[in-house]
Amino acid sequence: MSTKRMIPLRVAVLASGRGSNLQAVIDAIEAGQVHATIAAVISNKKDAVALERARKHGLKDLFVDPKPFAGRPDSREAYDRALLEVLEQHNVELVLLAGYMKIVTAVLVNAYANRMMNIHPSLLPSFPGLEVQKKALDWGCKLAGCTVHFVTEGVDEGPIILQAAVPILDGDTPESLASRILGQEHKIYPRAVQLFAEGRLRVDGRRVLIDGGKPDGEAIISPS
Ligand code: GAR
Repeated sequence: MSTKRMIPLRVAVLASGRGSNLQAVIDAIEAGQVHATIAAVISNKKDAVALERARKHGLKDLFVDPKPFAGRPDSREAYDRALLEVLEQHNVELVLLAGYMKIVTAVLVNAYANRMMNIHPSLLPSFPGLEVQKKALDWGCKLAGCTVHFVTEGVDEGPIILQAAVPILDGDTPESLASRILGQEHKIYPRAVQLFAEGRLRVDGRRVLIDGGKPDGEAIISPS
């Protein structure tokens, strides 16, 4: 059941790199397409371009250094406890992983069960992990794409919220394919955030049901 919120959804974005997905979410919020506010952009990399983007838009940017936690047997959990503290301080309701190149542990996953999303540049469950555009090309796939999913402990395994498919063309390189996929990432991530903000997502086992979703859909065939 969807619920109309008066107050914008409080979102945190975790990013390690260039932050183009962060930018897409910022732009959608600024354009009034997503009813949310970014309470903090957090990175495990001091020089992440994502942090610069946050500063440019007057958003809170936070570098949480993993080094003090390194070497201990529970280093990943300890780091996530530090992150959790920051998220709670900022009253974060939804966490977005956007090019966050660190595996999150049960500490965060449990605290934000069904309230943490990730974007991945493949049509999951095909090609979890890294260098996935190359893997799709090498496999000879005709369609590739991207997936927004809720985060569970298994890497790239959580319930799927939205996916977008793109054709793989004969002349594609991993780079050209990545760029075509990225264009779709920038569309579906903000859309998933808005669906969450509208209270329209319901997790039923592995399936995410979308309140008011379209009753039918057309086939995507490639080559068309
Ligand atoms: C995006 O393509 C995202 O899907 C991918 O990293 C890129 C980050 O780009 N994430 C993963 O591969 C996670 N498994 P961005 O920093 O420009 O948003």
